[in-house]
Amino acid sequence: MGVRLNVAAMTLLVLFASHANAQVFDVTANGAKPNADSTQALLTTWKEACASATRSKIVVPKGVFKVTQALFQGPCKAPIEFNLQGTLQAPPVGGGFKGGDTWIGFEHVDFLTVSGNGVFDGQGKSAWGKKCDHTEYCGKQLPINLRFDFVTNSLVQDVTTLDSKQFHVNVLGCKNVTFHNFHVIAPENSVNTDGIHIGRSTDIKILNSIIQTGDDCVSIGDGSKQIYLTQVTCGPGHGFGIGSLGKYLNELPVQGIFVTGCTLKNTLNGVRIKTWPNSYPGTASDIHFADITMENVGNPVLIDQEYCPWNQCNLKVPSKVKLSNISFKKIHGTSSTPLAVNLVCSSGAPCQNVVIQDINLKYSGSQGPITSKCKNVKPTVGGVQNPAACITSA
Ligand SMILES: *[C@@H]1O[C@H](CO)[C@@H](O)[C@H](O)[C@H]1NC(C)=O
Ligand SMILES: *[C@@H]1O[C@H](CO)[C@@H](O)[C@H](O)[C@H]1NC(C)=O
Repeated sequence: MGVRLNVAAMTLLVLFASHANAQVFDVTANGAKPNADSTQALLTTWKEACASATRSKIVVPKGVFKVTQALFQGPCKAPIEFNLQGTLQAPPVGGGFKGGDTWIGFEHVDFLTVSGNGVFDGQGKSAWGKKCDHTEYCGKQLPINLRFDFVTNSLVQDVTTLDSKQFHVNVLGCKNVTFHNFHVIAPENSVNTDGIHIGRSTDIKILNSIIQTGDDCVSIGDGSKQIYLTQVTCGPGHGFGIGSLGKYLNELPVQGIFVTGCTLKNTLNGVRIKTWPNSYPGTASDIHFADITMENVGNPVLIDQEYCPWNQCNLKVPSKVKLSNISFKKIHGTSSTPLAVNLVCSSGAPCQNVVIQDINLKYSGSQGPITSKCKNVKPTVGGVQNPAACITSA
């Protein structure tokens, strides 16, 4: 007992000591200046901090610092914190951005903390919906505000991503990363501005966060496992989406998605899983939505295995993505469309083990009574059902 206590006490001491000893690297010491291009100063500071043998803390003080593009690469020698108190501002269209689809990237970093009340301002307004009529931003080349590639054991908290030119945040190949009190802000009419996209990552948590944007608030792609969304508010936006899946060969399974205690406000969709028809094979299982509040939400509960925007696919060939072990529990509030619960599964791979329980939704529009649909699925139904389950079925 005594020995165990001592070990615990020593661990605490070590933790406190290492926190207290974080070596501070202020970007202004390397020449960063408000309202001036501070790209080089940031990169130099990252290099110094990343090489520190002990815990380091990079500080960006208050003020607007212009950054054309910055890739912060690890591995670093010790835990590293990026404390953003001011604003990092991207160039607008015409501002000289050259390379690639990333504005700010963190790559191959272990024990990264991004903190502060600062803002990553992508200045996207100038780019949304632009066709490739400019030498800088063509199609996929629009930069994502924040990329986390192969980042592990990390925390992103209190910061805001504002007006990204496309996706705000992309999480790829990451493990044990938490977003806490994180903010995404862009107007409803911004184009392709998904809040947080997660792919090929394990143990990602989004907690107590607010996402207001023009596309999916959170989108979850193939290879995502153990993803937790808790107390996340979405809206405006297109809701919380898994997929679209099945478009590409060799997609990895999606497994273990838990969306709990979240609120959607005035969004195009609520919670949905979408897969392409005529697709490659794939699987998504163990997906659970619970305690979700809908306020004036379109398609609040949706499985769409006939997802085919712009008619670019053959709807006659069913999706080969297998969906199983899915639950929707305690979903309540208001729908802005009469079809409130719409479960369209694949005729080639009917959904297995779907549970709908305690659904209490209201529709007060003029397009008829609230309704529900089930296709290629026989859900297990429990508790309250407004609308009644599977009013139309096929
Ligand atoms: C997960 O990441 C957090 C944040 O850095 C860290 O405190 C925790 O120890 C990590 N968990 C594991 C199992 O490494
Ligand atoms: C679905 O759940 C059942 C029962 O809990 C389990 O045996 C099965 O392995 C699960 N299937 C998948 C694909 O996760």
